[in-house]
Amino acid sequence: MKTVYTLLSLLSSVSAYSDLVVSSLTTHQPNGSPSGQVNYYSIAFTVNSANSNPSASGYCHASWGDNYCAFCNTGVAYSVNVPTGSYISCDSSRANLGDQTSEFGFQLYPYFSIGNFSVSVQQSFTDYASGSAQQVIASGMIHVTNTTAQYTCTINPQEITSATVHASGDCSIPPNQTPYQISLTTTTTACQPASTVQTSFPVTAPTTRGQSVHLTGNISELENWNPANAIPLDADQYTASQDLWNGTVSLPAGIAFEYKYLLRDADGGVRWECCENRRFVVSGFTCGMQTAGKGPDYFRD
Ligand SMILES: *[C@@H]1O[C@H](CO)[C@@H](O)[C@H](O)[C@H]1NC(C)=O
Ligand SMILES: *[C@@H]1O[C@H](CO)[C@@H](O)[C@H](O)[C@H]1NC(C)=O
Ligand SMILES: *[C@@H]1O[C@H](CO)[C@@H](O)[C@H](O)[C@H]1NC(C)=O
Ligand SMILES: *[C@@H]1O[C@H](CO)[C@@H](O)[C@H](O)[C@H]1NC(C)=O
Repeated sequence: MKTVYTLLSLLSSVSAYSDLVVSSLTTHQPNGSPSGQVNYYSIAFTVNSANSNPSASGYCHASWGDNYCAFCNTGVAYSVNVPTGSYISCDSSRANLGDQTSEFGFQLYPYFSIGNFSVSVQQSFTDYASGSAQQVIASGMIHVTNTTAQYTCTINPQEITSATVHASGDCSIPPNQTPYQISLTTTTTACQPASTVQTSFPVTAPTTRGQSVHLTGNISELENWNPANAIPLDADQYTASQDLWNGTVSLPAGIAFEYKYLLRDADGGVRWECCENRRFVVSGFTCGMQTAGKGPDYFRD
């Protein structure tokens, strides 16, 4: 299903919004291990924002393996394979997303060495406060190093090439320290009051040939929980690395609904998602496409 919409206006500006606040941040780089084993590095942090109403916070966690001695000869505490290049959604199970319309993503930037890295954070939310609603994407970056007072590290910087032993260490913002502030650059898109809003339903679901993913819910636009009429999603964006199904439904502004995805086999057999129904409230404005859920959600087997 393809939908065409017009961005009514698109302006980039210096932010009129508050800085994001990093209220906690810890990193862990484990002791080196013999060649052949994988070390797991991790970073976890909480971001708070006063920009959305009510204010929101997001918890981000990422870990990655590394057993590749790229910088051994330089004697630098290092890590490669850092997740970079696109924004990664925060772990929403631990995020308090406040109004349910704030989404945080983050990205790490190389060069990553222990206690020395950049993290870029992006928050998307709808700002209703200014009278004319606008969709805001706010992003900013901090460069964290082990030499700033806010961030203390216990580091063993030693690299032993022959055994592929890596430098290791743990860093965190100590209690009572002033948290990091991330100043923002924002892009805003004006929203218009609307009677119907195009709403997309992306969900990742590993499927085999002949299987398809469908959507139904408790409103007539979503076929009233009738699995036989459930709305088929399309697999246009399904690739080897991302098993994404997606679809778009035009929904009345302001409507609250419950919904679930279901998987249909080639022989017509139906498997519903587990657990409680999903819920979403369509906003009363259109600022382009709205996404139901955390975009994409995953099919709950
Ligand atoms: C920290 O990273 C920056 C690049 O982001 C680099 O120029 C600098 O040398 C690094 N410092 C240490 C102590 O590794
Ligand atoms: C910071 O990290 C570097 C290695 O990246 C290390 O040599 C230095 O001793 C550390 N400084 C502090 C204050 O921990
Ligand atoms: C789902 O489809 C809509 C409509 O084409 C698109 O705007 C949206 O970005 C897609 N979602 C994802 C996660 O690709
Ligand atoms: C659908 O579910 C929503 C959320 O629980 C509820 O507010 C709404 O009244 C329901 N609509 C219908 C038609 O049952």
